[in-house]
Amino acid sequence: MRCRLRRPQPGRPVRRPGRDRQGERFEGQVALVTGGGSGIGLAVAEVLAAGGASVGLFGRNLERLRTAEKKIVAAGGEATACAGDVRDLDSVQSAVAEVEQRYGPITFAVNAAGTGVGQKYLCDEDEESWLRTIDTNLNGSFRFCRAVVPGMMHRRRGSIVLVSSAAGKRGVPANTAYSASKWGLNGLVRSLALEVGSAHVRVNAVCPGFTDTEMVRGESL
Ligand SMILES: NC(=O)c1ccc[n+]([C@@H]2O[C@H](COP(=O)([O-])OP(=O)(O)OC[C@H]3O[C@@H](n4cnc5c(N)ncnc54)[C@H](OP(=O)(O)O)[C@@H]3O)[C@@H](O)[C@H]2O)c1
Repeated sequence: MRCRLRRPQPGRPVRRPGRDRQGERFEGQVALVTGGGSGIGLAVAEVLAAGGASVGLFGRNLERLRTAEKKIVAAGGEATACAGDVRDLDSVQSAVAEVEQRYGPITFAVNAAGTGVGQKYLCDEDEESWLRTIDTNLNGSFRFCRAVVPGMMHRRRGSIVLVSSAAGKRGVPANTAYSASKWGLNGLVRSLALEVGSAHVRVNAVCPGFTDTEMVRGESL
């Protein structure tokens, strides 16, 4: 019986220390993750980085993003913190430019930034709190997509995931603003997916149920 030895293949990525067994899964990919400093966003960023992606971490709290960046780098991954607010299109576009200048074109874009702060029964809800929730969760998702979609369409490559919620698929009392924002987000995802699919850009939502994070512990700002 002949024994075939595998020769190293030129151009094949070399597994770097600190990467998991599936460490080449995202090798060469560039990701931007909003809400990357905590909770679900941070968990997604860590998985992407462990799989070899270079990850931009976006959020308002730079100190927390830097802590997340250090954690990922200490585990052998590649990450950079970019402060910004999904309520401000310019800051999202600046983060896209910063990440692309540093790592190259963004191939994965995950919007986990969101708020569930101050949800009330409708009769107790003030307009400002309603608008803040919609502006972060729904309008923020629009701004995020507006910042990443043109480049992905131009390159005919990219995958976008917007973090929605089980509350975007059913009614939740004392959560009208949050639930409405996530129903709207799901509509954005369905329509945008049809709009850009032919340009090889995928758009999906994930709808998590209850997850133990700062948001549900009432610690989010
Ligand atoms: N936990 C659950 O049970 C659950 C269930 C379903 C869906 N979700 C969704 O999952 C996503 C992540 O939430 P989480 O549970 O992981 O809670 P979390 O730890 O509080 O994460 C929310 C993240 O969003 C960021 N953020 C909030 N407002 C922002 C803004 N205006 N601009 C930029 N970043 C902003 C926060 O960072 P900064 O404070 O630094 O800005 C934070 O990192 C949210 O969209 C939430 O609706 C959560």
